Amino acid sequence: MNAKTKLRTTSSSATTLGLCAVLGFGSQGTAIALNLRDSGCEVIIGLPTGSKSRRKAQRAGFSVTTVSRAVAGAQTIIFAFPDHCHQRTFASAIEQHLHPKQTLVFLHGTSISFSLVTPPTDMDVIMLAPHGPGISVREQFVNGKNEMSAFWAIKNDARGKAKKRLLAFAKAIGIVGQKKLFETTFDDEALGDLFGEQTVLCGGLTELIHAGFTTLTEAGISSDNAYLEVCYQLDLIVSLIKRFGIEGMYQRISVAAKYGSLKTGPKLIDAGVKKRMKAALNEIKSGAFARELSALTPAQLKILDKDLKKLTSPEFEKAAKKFG
Ligand SMILES: NC(=O)c1ccc[n+]([C@@H]2O[C@H](COP(=O)([O-])OP(=O)(O)OC[C@H]3O[C@@H](n4cnc5c(N)ncnc54)[C@H](OP(=O)(O)O)[C@@H]3O)[C@@H](O)[C@H]2O)c1
Repeated sequence: MNAKTKLRTTSSSATTLGLCAVLGFGSQGTAIALNLRDSGCEVIIGLPTGSKSRRKAQRAGFSVTTVSRAVAGAQTIIFAFPDHCHQRTFASAIEQHLHPKQTLVFLHGTSISFSLVTPPTDMDVIMLAPHGPGISVREQFVNGKNEMSAFWAIKNDARGKAKKRLLAFAKAIGIVGQKKLFETTFDDEALGDLFGEQTVLCGGLTELIHAGFTTLTEAGISSDNAYLEVCYQLDLIVSLIKRFGIEGMYQRISVAAKYGSLKTGPKLIDAGVKKRMKAALNEIKSGAFARELSALTPAQLKILDKDLKKLTSPEFEKAAKKFG
């Protein structure tokens, strides 16, 4: 945000939050650090020595230090780095620097819910999980649109001030009002979020889209046409579902689409899918997924990037870029 852009003055948030240590300067970390600063809060960025993000944070005008130093000096500590690093980093660089007057802010529930991180009980531990990536957290703040919503939860309320701190943090990053803040628990958010992204929003959806795309292209339909049919219009359908419900969406599409959906949809997404969804839920619930995530090594993460390519194809990616 340049100096001419409208700034919000939330000095009460700044007073309540004190010095904010944003740990990580990636998707959420960048947005949260910028929003906090534009709201008048004092911000320091904590990153491991040798982090690629150090220069980016410095170029954005932030003071950057190690995770340990940032934690030791701050009143509010924001876990804005990848969940799979929380357990190791908490044990090696955070835990020993904590003191009761500090507040730990999580952006997702997994680490607390599955006890990968166990903070002392005499400090505030809160969660504000934005319903969108960092780029959206930042954009809606800059535009002043207040479109972002979030789940919130309190794990520890050491001195009866955790809610005040949570609301101050939410306000300072631009998430304001009862219609935007949904109360939950760390456990429910972790379970729901992991399940939702694995089975429906990301894992399930991309498999469905790509299976539809390759079925059409293998039948001789051009990549462009196949993409336009199985992916391009998806946001319009989702938007109808969000506005009017599933039934309302069906009331607004053609008879052919309605009739065909009823005939084919349940045969495709059958009871077997639900059974496998339950198995995925149980794996998450048991903590097995969180433990696996937390044990990921840099070598495994490199393989993960390669494996992700198997979920798509060059033809699909080309079409997506063309119409994106
Ligand atoms: N992204 C989303 O859409 C989203 C939405 C809601 C909630 N969340 C939650 O927000 C949190 C952050 O997620 P994210 O997606 O924003 O993460 P991210 O973009 O993957 O975070 C990357 C940043 O963290 C730094 N980093 C890596 N290891 C670190 C460590 N041990 N200590 C401190 N910094 C470290 C990276 O530095 P290098 O450049 O050196 O790698 C980079 O600056 C997670 O709890 C996530 O579940 C994310």
